Amino acid sequence: EPGARVPALVIGTGYGGSVAALRLAQAGVDVHMVEMGMAWDTPGSDGKIFANTTSPDYRSYWLRTRTKQPLSNFLGFPIDRDVPRYTGILDAEEMGGIIVYQGRGVGGGSLVNGGMAVTPKRENFAAVLPSVDAGPMYSVYYPRANAGLGVGTVDPTWFETADCYQYARVGRKHAERSGFPFVFVPDVYDWDYMEQEAAGTVPKSALAGEILYGNNYGKKSLQKTYLARAKATGRVSVSPLHKVTSVAPAAGGGYTVVIDQLNTTGGTTATKTVTADRVFFAAGSVGTSKLLVRLKATGALPGLNSEVGKGWGDNGNVMCGRANHLWDPTGALQSSIPCSGIDNWAAGGAFAEVAPLPTGIETYASFYLSITKNPHRAQFSYNAGTGGVDLNWQTAWKQPSIDMAKTIFDKINAKEGTIYRTDLFGTYKIWGDHLTYHPLGGAVLNKATDNYGRLHGHPGLYVIDGALIPGNTSVNPFVTITALAERNIEAIVAADL
Ligand code: FDA
Repeated sequence: EPGARVPALVIGTGYGGSVAALRLAQAGVDVHMVEMGMAWDTPGSDGKIFANTTSPDYRSYWLRTRTKQPLSNFLGFPIDRDVPRYTGILDAEEMGGIIVYQGRGVGGGSLVNGGMAVTPKRENFAAVLPSVDAGPMYSVYYPRANAGLGVGTVDPTWFETADCYQYARVGRKHAERSGFPFVFVPDVYDWDYMEQEAAGTVPKSALAGEILYGNNYGKKSLQKTYLARAKATGRVSVSPLHKVTSVAPAAGGGYTVVIDQLNTTGGTTATKTVTADRVFFAAGSVGTSKLLVRLKATGALPGLNSEVGKGWGDNGNVMCGRANHLWDPTGALQSSIPCSGIDNWAAGGAFAEVAPLPTGIETYASFYLSITKNPHRAQFSYNAGTGGVDLNWQTAWKQPSIDMAKTIFDKINAKEGTIYRTDLFGTYKIWGDHLTYHPLGGAVLNKATDNYGRLHGHPGLYVIDGALIPGNTSVNPFVTITALAERNIEAIVAADL
């Protein structure tokens, strides 16, 4: 309520925010979470909370009047369509040289993502988080994160015969014939539920193509894991459709937090001011970076250091498709939840997920999202003219990612006598080099903050999300975001409260 004073305010309800809320509440601290997106707990007129990937509607996009689908074309034809402007679940945020996809709502990215829950190989960890001791991460915090998130792996026996993973088995065959290590990728999707979907005994979600705009069943989003446990403590409250616009030192100590209440077309219906003893920035890499850069530049938080806004990376994301021969169909039925990948990180700097193309028809396409060791890092800066925050990422900076992905797919194409698809991202365009699903950095650990996420210059302010990670995790990021948050909040609870 306006004028209230809270011990701890968390901005955002994604991975970092959910871990912070749970652990603070368990330590006896009352927590208030502020989330700009919707609660996603109420069915629409079709009886479902979330829209299907193949039929986007008002629920699908954050304040857009036209969809912005990651795969923009099919057979070369554009597939975007008009939708009513609404506070929908997926934000395709255009940041100049790159479109950054993010989840909006209680649960953050866990609402829209593929649930792939990958712990980096220990040998790569020093490059992921150079200032963090790997020992406790791998003995305590990664296991804690995996348990808290409910991570599991497809039953390898079921995998061999499941129609919905024919595309993954084709991916494996092609990878192995070219000599690449093929790995199963863990996921937070309920694998028993998926087997029941395949058997036809429960309502379908992964096998109905649900993913980008939410899964109605089966996926263990944060709403079902960390946030459910946090709410069960009785100490955590959440305000959806509330957006934090300012944080500044309060006269009597603590911080004044200004919050806009939004309606479902994005308009501000009220502006509220509360005071918080501690504020946790968990608005995601882009959300946290934009807030901090603007608050520093406008003098609200003058003590922040010059590292704020730096060290942003795209986790080297790049997409491509391959056209298979007619004797290698990938299946009309494809589980929207990927379960496998091709690991060429050590030799070629690329880890490629074998991704679905859940169109409902046979496409003879193999589709991949590669995570690569892209060295480029961008910076956020305040734009006094627009009052917004810009990111200086250049589209051309994807070229190293393309080159690394080609270490896998040029070789597979040569071996199989196949070619790249050129119809998925435009006409005659091979590479999906215009986007990322994995924004990381902007308030890097041990630079903008101390080695546990305490922001320099303003005691009681913390960063606890993907903004802490300097641009690359070598695999999909949310397990690392969760494990780092577990590590940091444990130290903060022990020393600061
Ligand atoms: P996250 O983005 O989750 O949460 C931030 C929250 O803060 C959001 O809910 C946002 O609305 C809110 N917010 C922002 N600004 C605010 C403000 N000013 N006031 C109030 N609230 C505010 N990763 C992975 O490991 N495996 C995978 O399979 C995938 N797949 C995938 C697919 C797609 C389509 C996307 C978009 C992303 C993925 N990811 C993924 C990435 C993963 O989802 C992402 O890395 C994490 O969600 C980031 O977690 P954070 O806690 O940093 O922020």
